[in-house]
Amino acid sequence: MQIGTPLSATATKVMLLGSGELGKEVIIALQRLGVEVIAVDRYENAPGHQVAHRAYTIDMTDAAALKALVAKEKPHLIVPEIEALNTDALAEIEREGLAIVIPTVKAVQLTMNREGIRRLAAEALKLPTSPYAFAHSCDALQAAIDGKNGDAGIGYPCFIKPTMSSSGKGQSRVTEKSQVQAAWDYAATGGRVNQGVVIVEGQIDFDYEITLLTVRAKNVAGEIQTYFCEPIGHVQKSGDYVESWQPQVMTPNALKAAQHVAKTITDALGGVGLFGVELFVKGDQVWFSEVSPRPHDTGMVTMCSQRLSEFELHARAILGLPVDVSMTNAGASAVIYGGAESNNLKYDGLEAALAVPCSDVRLFGKPQSFVKRRMGVALATGKDTDEARSRAKLVASLVKTSD
Ligand SMILES: Nc1ncnc2c1ncn2[C@@H]1O[C@H](COP(=O)(O)OP(=O)(O)O)[C@@H](O)[C@H]1O
Ligand SMILES: [Mg+2]
Repeated sequence: MQIGTPLSATATKVMLLGSGELGKEVIIALQRLGVEVIAVDRYENAPGHQVAHRAYTIDMTDAAALKALVAKEKPHLIVPEIEALNTDALAEIEREGLAIVIPTVKAVQLTMNREGIRRLAAEALKLPTSPYAFAHSCDALQAAIDGKNGDAGIGYPCFIKPTMSSSGKGQSRVTEKSQVQAAWDYAATGGRVNQGVVIVEGQIDFDYEITLLTVRAKNVAGEIQTYFCEPIGHVQKSGDYVESWQPQVMTPNALKAAQHVAKTITDALGGVGLFGVELFVKGDQVWFSEVSPRPHDTGMVTMCSQRLSEFELHARAILGLPVDVSMTNAGASAVIYGGAESNNLKYDGLEAALAVPCSDVRLFGKPQSFVKRRMGVALATGKDTDEARSRAKLVASLVKTSD
């Protein structure tokens, strides 16, 4: 792997599609390796725009806009950070040999839609998942929950989600029949693209859930090898992550099963890069939930717990460089919310927050704040995850936001 000089004819160029807080960290990692980075997002002054060589604001679901930008910038690699992309345009770009899509076009296509990835995992790869069905109308949804002709339905409680959504958008947990219509309406309108199709999943009664960061990277022999970070435990509220920690203690059998699931799904998606494999765990039993073919929000904890963060691992893997997934110490992350609607949010209390031992913060610099928008993250290490978690939560609570 040769890396050129940024802003010269030899530059190694990477284009990020989506430049939020996760993209921003990937960009910083790439910049440190001497890569020329082009940040793209749907709104101006996105976090990643602020640290890239060049920044563009376009509608990334628009094939013509995407192709025109790639033709103009001629990146070597295209790194999707979000799911709302025109994947047909990406396929065409790759077919024409203009750029390589990370990790693969197929992975980006399958994971942008819950139906694609769920059918691959459960039906083609036979991995354990929650019971599920897809429904194109509220009646079909009710029938899938109730079952018919003696076939057991999904039953209650269950989760109803748009097939195209993330961060819990459009998702509800339903415990009885009277809630189904509202859940259908919310899912059918809450997704990115109103597909009129939802997934209903039976609830898995897990002990805990994890993200298993899994890296496909070249080893010294130049062959692609799979590496696993220590498991990350997390807490989700209304489908959105609020807190994460590393390591999550698991039984040896559960860890083995989790790594098997992660290896199987990432082998099927292919390419190089870091993946966030979401799993539910009960005792020794593991269920596949979903996978991001890119760094994961719960993996922000690795900025304080690993020698190389998930962003640095992704940067290295996509450039064909060797990785080191070792954890250095127990760590935790806690989300800092906007707390107010504002176009110029102010952050106070950082003196007290950063006086907490072994702590750090990232303020993403998002131009617009909402009460429940993730605007930053608190990080902390400790002698164990209990100490790291209480420190991270304390740090987050000490950061005061105002309009
Ligand atoms: N079938 C399920 N059983 C139990 N919990 C679930 C199930 N589906 C979703 N959840 C809970 O909701 C969270 C978000 O769901 P997920 O499918 O990961 O949506 P998103 O793509 O928005 O992250 C999960 O991390 C988990 O806490
Ligand atoms: Mg998820």
